Amino acid sequence: MSRFIVQRKSQYDDLYKESVENPEKFWSDFAEDSFKWHRKWDKTLSYDLRKPTIKWFEGAQLNITENCIDRHLETIGDQTAIIFEPNNPDEDSQHITYQDLATNVNKTANMLKALGAKKGDRICIYMPMTPELAYTVLACARIGAIHSVVFAGFSAKSLSDRIEDAQCSMLVTADGGFRGQKITPLKEIADQALEHCDCIKRVLVLRRTGLEISMKADRDFWWHEAFEKAHDECVAEIMDAEDMLFILYTSGSTGKPKGMVHTCAGYMVYTNYSFRNVFQYEQGDIYWCTADIGWITGHSYILYGPLSAGATTLMFEGVPSYPDMGRFWNIVEKHQVNIFYTAPTAIRALASCDLSFVNSYDLSSLKTLGTVGEPINLEAWQWYDEHIGKKECPILDTWWQTETGGIMISSIAGVTEDIPTFATLPLPGIQPCLMDDMGNEIQALESEGKLCIKYPWPSMARTIYGNHQRFKETYYTAFEGKYFTGDGAKRDRRGNYRITGRVDDIVIVSGHNLGTAEIENAINEHPQVAESAVVGYPHPIKGNAIYAYVTLRGEFDASNASSLKSEINRLVSSTIGPISKPEKIQITGGLPKTRSGKIMRRILRKIAENELDKLGDTSTLLNPECVQEIIEGRYNS
Ligand code: WTA
Repeated sequence: MSRFIVQRKSQYDDLYKESVENPEKFWSDFAEDSFKWHRKWDKTLSYDLRKPTIKWFEGAQLNITENCIDRHLETIGDQTAIIFEPNNPDEDSQHITYQDLATNVNKTANMLKALGAKKGDRICIYMPMTPELAYTVLACARIGAIHSVVFAGFSAKSLSDRIEDAQCSMLVTADGGFRGQKITPLKEIADQALEHCDCIKRVLVLRRTGLEISMKADRDFWWHEAFEKAHDECVAEIMDAEDMLFILYTSGSTGKPKGMVHTCAGYMVYTNYSFRNVFQYEQGDIYWCTADIGWITGHSYILYGPLSAGATTLMFEGVPSYPDMGRFWNIVEKHQVNIFYTAPTAIRALASCDLSFVNSYDLSSLKTLGTVGEPINLEAWQWYDEHIGKKECPILDTWWQTETGGIMISSIAGVTEDIPTFATLPLPGIQPCLMDDMGNEIQALESEGKLCIKYPWPSMARTIYGNHQRFKETYYTAFEGKYFTGDGAKRDRRGNYRITGRVDDIVIVSGHNLGTAEIENAINEHPQVAESAVVGYPHPIKGNAIYAYVTLRGEFDASNASSLKSEINRLVSSTIGPISKPEKIQITGGLPKTRSGKIMRRILRKIAENELDKLGDTSTLLNPECVQEIIEGRYNS
């Protein structure tokens, strides 16, 4: 066992200390031990967080897929790498061994090459959660193409924006995707998106649902036809440590999503390190992360982390509610899942159902539980502990972000203590700190402030694709020389962190980051809308929900309110995706503004949260009268 995988609390303390005192040696030793390199690095780390420039393992050469696949073939080639559980419980599940994975990824890689893909190209992936999605992601990495996975619930507009931003030359999609009883017409949506993109030269289409679609000659190709012809060996492209591995978009405070860039070596090192440490994976364990590969959690902890560790990782195509609310527990029993990693919003939704959905299944295979994506409330934590873990499984509350690439703050299964609603301690190698509003680091242990990370770690995002200035402004300007997370946190006297939530204009709805500005922009497209302001407010299942305040152009006929609201909802859905739809829309005569004309979202947030005693002084507003009107009108929304 590697000495970097923590086994006891005292070892955690020692390793943490070592990682802070000599971070470069720490990461260099771990990286040396744990991977196959074509060439070792000349310098472990060089950085300047004011610019910021960050380089890890400079001079090293590698291919991440050799570490996720090839090196396992001799030892565990026959072991299952991926268990695929289809949406429809009557369809057979698949057990894909490491050997199968090698063959399929190589064939996919050759197929991409045959269609013209090469190192450095950006390839957009818009696919359902099928094994072919995993093959495509890994195939891109194998040939050195940069993957940009777009979640298959996003609209045509969101897809085309992301394709354009990264100037992708190829799109891999499917005829459709199964989600519970529904089929998402992915190819049809992609066709709409491509009306606005000139950069895509080739579209590869997987047949999954049998949905009828149109294929454009010379642009669109069927997966099964191309796959059949592809050779099953493909030599991995040798990549430099800092070559881009992928781009993944996440919402920003301004309208446009940010294409976060991750690079080959650092990302590989840290996802492997954090996966093995946090989950304490042991050979033979069945590990299931319920996220979608369209999000960072799927990238890091369905694919790269587990596969580089030689784990068996389960991929589920469907939704927790189909065919009924017992599906997750049915899958745990069916595949004897040992480690289960999900989101608080899923836990809350499942906790609100009858317990018979849980109790009909044998969950005794479970030994470790995890959560990610938003703060977990005490009630949900206790339900998870009692009814799923039967009070015998550690619960890992893992805090991290698309930008951090991997888990930063979390307990370590069975090694460090888990505390309800606390993410607890940073992993060795991670140096968080809390900042006050004056920009000073808070030294006292027991405190509250804005969460920053004060020293580089290998899987940190390197830039925003095509916009380094925005990268600098968003993450490295608020607190000089530190990475600012956008989250607030509390720390107890033993150094445990409790994340309190976003301190910027991002709202986390059912674990998805939504930029309020992006939703406002969509609403404002409606010809009758003059202006809008979007805030989040607490919601029992989703964690937060979207509340939109809207003012109109000209006279408003109240009898049209409900049709107008559905039009706005449709608009948001088609512009961004159904996940962004407001839960409440309130049409109002005015929005509270400062004298300089800035909308006071803080007041709107308090009204949406029903915390009227915390509105503060509204008399300095430009239009204080509108506050009363909004308060009175809020139950009609
Ligand atoms: C929030 C997901 C509290 C946080 C991996 C962060 C959490 C944002 C937790 C990143 C947690 C994630 N406790 N809050 N355990 N995990 N968050 O980029 O606000 O989709 O900034 O990455 O989710 O979301 P993202």
